[in-house]
Amino acid sequence: MRARANAGANIAFIKYWGVRDPEFNIPLNDSVSMTLDAARTTTEVEFSPRLDADELTINGQPAFSAARARVSRHLDLLRERAGVPWRARVDSWNTFPMGAGLASSAAAFAALTAAAAVALGLRLSERELSRLARRGSGSAARSIYGGYVWWHAGHDDASSFAEPLAPPDHWDLRDIVAVVAEEEKAVSSAEGHRLAHTSPFLEARLAQVERLLPRVRRAIQQRDLTLLGPCLEADALAMHFVMMSSTPPLFYWAPETVALIKAVHAWRDGGLPVYFTIDAGPNVHLICEAADAERVIARVRALDYVRSVIVSGSGEGVVLE
Ligand code: DP6
Repeated sequence: MRARANAGANIAFIKYWGVRDPEFNIPLNDSVSMTLDAARTTTEVEFSPRLDADELTINGQPAFSAARARVSRHLDLLRERAGVPWRARVDSWNTFPMGAGLASSAAAFAALTAAAAVALGLRLSERELSRLARRGSGSAARSIYGGYVWWHAGHDDASSFAEPLAPPDHWDLRDIVAVVAEEEKAVSSAEGHRLAHTSPFLEARLAQVERLLPRVRRAIQQRDLTLLGPCLEADALAMHFVMMSSTPPLFYWAPETVALIKAVHAWRDGGLPVYFTIDAGPNVHLICEAADAERVIARVRALDYVRSVIVSGSGEGVVLE
């Protein structure tokens, strides 16, 4: 009862921030992302009657107990569904540096869900995998699919799942991550999602999301970066304003984050079509077309405060190996 799956992280153009139901990770708004080809996780799961407890290694090292408990809870959902009580050994490898602030949980829970389902002999549709992956990490619902992906918020476990908008080769975009800090985040996204309700700006952001979503859909369909770019910047900023104005406040930016935002504005004024988005951390994701990627990478590398650069294209969804 063993299987192995590979999945990519994703970068959201319209973000998921705030939960309606924390147990099932039912979000307050629909979100849209691109699955990444360079930031990926491979996970092997083996269920065995000989194990007393679930075991987890990440990049060859035994994982901390908090990570093991989170994986165990997720495996329980799959075990329950399959009617199999056995514990599992889970080995996971990332193709990107841990602690670079990349949302590794999306790739991790997409790969874990797919591998565990196959190992348990469950025959699940991609939609069912997306719904299950969502329970482990909200954004993992999107990583089941490749390319450009829409997560329907829905209102309950049955209606909240992702769906593909366009395959990876539909549009050759790049996500160039300028890593400025490698610290672990002080507040988890899970906690942040619960605090969103305390922000006086939450309603304003959700209203803006409703205006941006149809534009983002059209921008992807028409491969129009001048339409997409302002939408993704507006939503990243709105999400961070909600974070900053929550009680207690969540302030993920570093001084370098602001410096990069200003650099992107200057580059764009100078004729380079590049836009920024920022997740729950200080690192800045620069989104541009493949044809402009080398110029953007050269400018980012020239900044002395950027520690490393990770370049991803649009990648495949979950793949069984
Ligand atoms: C800011 O709940 O998916 O990246 O707590 O690590 O599971 P974990 O993350 P998740 O939150 C992701 C939040 C975000 C925005 C997004 O990807 O939509």
